[in-house]
Amino acid sequence: MTGVKTAAAEQRDTSGESLTNQRIVVLDFGSQYAQLIARRVREQNVYCQILRHEISAERLREIAPQGIILSGGPSSVYEEGAPRCDPELFQLGIPVLGICYGMQLACEALGGRVDHTPSREYGRANCHISQHGKLFAGLPSDMEVWMSHGDQVSSISEQFETLAETATCPYAAVRHRDLPVYAMQFHPEVTHTPLGGKVLENFVIGVCGCEPSWRLGDFADATIAKVREQVGDRRVICGLSGGVDSSVVAALLYKAIGPQLSCILIDNGLLRKDEQRLVIDEFSNHFKADLHVVDAEERFLKTLDGISEPQEKRKRIGYAFIECFKEEALKIKDADFLAQGTLYPDVIESGADPDGPAATIKLHHNVGGLPDELGFELIEPLRDLFKDEVRRLGLELGLPEQLVWRHPFPGPGLAVRCLGEVTREKLNVLREADSIVVSEIEAAGLYRETSQSFAVLLPVQSVGVMGDARTYDNAIAIRSVNTNDFMTADWSRLPYDLLARMSTRIINEVKGVNRVCYDISSKPPATIEWE
Ligand code: XMP
Repeated sequence: MTGVKTAAAEQRDTSGESLTNQRIVVLDFGSQYAQLIARRVREQNVYCQILRHEISAERLREIAPQGIILSGGPSSVYEEGAPRCDPELFQLGIPVLGICYGMQLACEALGGRVDHTPSREYGRANCHISQHGKLFAGLPSDMEVWMSHGDQVSSISEQFETLAETATCPYAAVRHRDLPVYAMQFHPEVTHTPLGGKVLENFVIGVCGCEPSWRLGDFADATIAKVREQVGDRRVICGLSGGVDSSVVAALLYKAIGPQLSCILIDNGLLRKDEQRLVIDEFSNHFKADLHVVDAEERFLKTLDGISEPQEKRKRIGYAFIECFKEEALKIKDADFLAQGTLYPDVIESGADPDGPAATIKLHHNVGGLPDELGFELIEPLRDLFKDEVRRLGLELGLPEQLVWRHPFPGPGLAVRCLGEVTREKLNVLREADSIVVSEIEAAGLYRETSQSFAVLLPVQSVGVMGDARTYDNAIAIRSVNTNDFMTADWSRLPYDLLARMSTRIINEVKGVNRVCYDISSKPPATIEWE
């Protein structure tokens, strides 16, 4: 086994990859948790990559991972068209861990049977470990685990032995007697399996023999060296948005090439209150690089004039952004590269990695098309990282906490929070209300606990009384959500007193608003933004 691994590791092409020699790969069978598994493995300081489920054993031999994790998935193994893996991968001598659907695949491929459970099992279960071995070393004999499955393994071949069971699942965890193949029906990657991290650590470090040596600091050093080599004495342009991704990209590049970096900030007039100033301050506090601020409010307002349909707004904003960026970029001499803050989930979900899973989710592309149109070479220094890793890297690079933890803000900015037609006056009302929402959330110490909190200006007027006078003014909706991945979200259970303070302040301080509502819709079926 070691011989196979060493030979293959020597052949491995790591260019543009993780800049590390050891890795665990996750084969994705359509699980909502595949990315979570990868993040949990990386928490063990071992690099982890997500690959397409049908990748050939031959290609896996070339990639030569230290371990292979088969993710869960929504299918049934006997279903026609169910995603499968190359059965040869079990013979590579590389340790395999099958989770949920991945377990069913592994057991079925190696002589076992899978059946429907009478009722779908979903929730917590007590798992009794009968054989600890390497996989469960250091764990108690009984532990809480999270189950979520319709099928389960109903019989295992002689070559397998049982490691753990629950009241309803006789094969909660099994291992092959001769091959390094392990499988478990429960999900060690979710927080509802409190000791799941230890199980994954045991697999990655104990079974696969990985060194826990993948560190963000080393990643940054290696990326900086690689960028230096790629760029030579040429110039790189980086768009700044005030968000964490573009700031971390700029910080990394600044470390790598210093004065050869030019940044462009387009103020489209749709930014939050004081945002332009904040970005400039943060930027000049941290880098002495060339910064181009383009004041494009007029241009964006003009292109949005009379437009109320949300997708049309997005399209026009996207187009105007590209035009502005292009014009400014052309003023910068000898720029050959464009840096972008593409993250690993974007790479996975867009199907951009030839070994990675097929495209699954349509992304919001704000700067799509720019590199092609301008003939730039792309630099994407964060394309191997998850968002939480980007934040940690930002802190390691010395960016302020306030910036690193800033809530995401959509590319089309306040235009999609100013429902219907967008005017300067409406934007000003929204900006003031939004700034009160955010500052009150901060003052209550809830900024980090909520994922996105903001104000929306509704296209309705309603009647009110202020003093003795009747008013007929605008309504503001407060939106605050909690989410892990922004694909689903729940409304934040903000304290009433906080909501009351926001409402009072908005109505008293923002001229033109006489009513405040709190949005209590979750996603789905609502979305986070209102447009
Ligand atoms: P929704 O409204 O789809 O939002 O639930 C999910 C996340 O995406 C952000 N969002 C956008 N980001 N361009 C962006 O860059 C867009 O057009 C866009 N629309 C929504 C939204 O703020 C939330 O974080």
